[in-house]
Amino acid sequence: MMKKRKEKRYAQGLTRVASEGDGDFVQKLSCEVFSIYGDYDEIVPRWLSNPDVLTLIYVDDVHPLGFAMLSVPSGEILAIAVMPQYQRTRIGSVLLKRIRDLASQLGLRRLTVHTADENAGAQLFFQKAGFEVIGSRERYYSQGQTALILSKGI
Ligand SMILES: CC(C)(COP(=O)(O)OP(=O)(O)OC[C@H]1O[C@@H](n2cnc3c(N)ncnc32)[C@H](O)[C@@H]1OP(=O)(O)O)[C@@H](O)C(=O)NCCC(=O)NCCS
Repeated sequence: MMKKRKEKRYAQGLTRVASEGDGDFVQKLSCEVFSIYGDYDEIVPRWLSNPDVLTLIYVDDVHPLGFAMLSVPSGEILAIAVMPQYQRTRIGSVLLKRIRDLASQLGLRRLTVHTADENAGAQLFFQKAGFEVIGSRERYYSQGQTALILSKGI
């Protein structure tokens, strides 16, 4: 499918609240996109069962293609990921918007996210959505990378 048509299709997609049954999907995708930073294939699935973390799953028909996790009440986006073959088709944008809407309904005033300084794609993604860099933390990740802290008022 052409990029524009894919974007149109996925920009209208559904998100639902995750359940324990999403553990395998979250674990596999985390392994694929986050293991260069540390043991996130173990850490991220544990967040799924943390009562202070809300997780949304992007679904196309019944197939999960991405997820996002919000920590409440801190407003930190702990993770957001889209399957590599579906990236750049607006799925991340849909997830981020729904997380923002959820945070707003919960009365949160600000979202923050940590992202590796070498993860230029994610920085552009968040900056395009209105986030600004407000700080950094050296060796934030167990594999040694520095994290940038990005934030946006709701
Ligand atoms: C970051 C991520 C969630 C973005 O989701 P996505 O569905 O690919 O992003 P979208 O299609 O909604 O992108 C919207 C805009 O953000 C920007 N953007 C997103 N990914 C980008 C990249 N790799 N390089 C440059 N710009 C990018 C673009 O401006 C894009 O619009 P365009 O395609 O019209 O140019 C996804 O790339 C991902 O899962 N990455 C791996 C995990 C990760 O790094 N997560 C973030 C840290 S928690």
